[in-house]
Amino acid sequence: MVRVKIPATTANLGCGYDTFGMALGYYNYVSVTEAPSLSVKIIGEGQKFLQDTASNLVVRSALAAFELAGQAAPPLAFTCENNIPLSRGMGSSSSAIVGGIYAANELMGRILSEQQMLELAISIEGHPDNVTPALFGGFTVCANEAGMQYTRKVEVPASLRAVLAVPNFLLSTKKARAIMPKQVLLEDAVYNLSHAAYLALALAQGDVSGFGTMLTDRLHQPYRFTLIRGAEDVVEAAIAAGAIGCVISGSGPTMISFTEDDALLTDNIAAAMSEAFADHGVEAKIIIVGVDNDGTQVVG
Ligand code: HSE
Repeated sequence: MVRVKIPATTANLGCGYDTFGMALGYYNYVSVTEAPSLSVKIIGEGQKFLQDTASNLVVRSALAAFELAGQAAPPLAFTCENNIPLSRGMGSSSSAIVGGIYAANELMGRILSEQQMLELAISIEGHPDNVTPALFGGFTVCANEAGMQYTRKVEVPASLRAVLAVPNFLLSTKKARAIMPKQVLLEDAVYNLSHAAYLALALAQGDVSGFGTMLTDRLHQPYRFTLIRGAEDVVEAAIAAGAIGCVISGSGPTMISFTEDDALLTDNIAAAMSEAFADHGVEAKIIIVGVDNDGTQVVG
């Protein structure tokens, strides 16, 4: 039996649309064992909705890993312990894909390289910015050049805390991408380029405050705010409560604030975000976590 632990992720980090990702200290678990026939048991998030057949994303991803490795897959029994909320911008589908591929590769005796697992996960997910930190942990940068996937990871200072406000409604990535414009202003592109470069360097140098200052964005959030009731007020409230930055997590609707580790501060930010959402009639679950620097791991 193999059991793996996969972190939740936050993509974009404001200015790094489809480029930046970060792994959070909040986990799903996938267990796989050889069995007389295929079965899937789902515990927790999505228990009522997720496919419990061969069309389950964890199963499909595991079988794709066997296929890529040229191995015949035996009948497998999967158990998915899901904590990451679905369709909220916290990387739940990436965790399913990475969990399935990673567990299958362990069962096969690690035939696939990390790069092969990454490229397979990206091909299934369609975007690199959630699967990359889910696999490797830390803060990741993804770029595609001439069909090649380039990724870099840096470890994130352990003092960084994320406060997430997870609304009680779903927002599909498809819908959140459909609202994006086909063209952007050159000055907005330059704004994001400069912020993204500064943010990545600040984080690599351990400068949490410099990282926070550059989270702002002009390429996707202005459009997506229209899909998330109260989001702009949540940003304002979080900053007023002491957050170093607050942005849409991935394609939303979750909002994520960052701050240094300080229990009073994180509680104040959480309350401010929750109240701002409530003022717009949106109930939000609060999750306060650190960052994960290890990525997907085999656990006992
Ligand atoms: N970068 C993606 C988006 C995240 O914002 O649409 C979801 O994969």
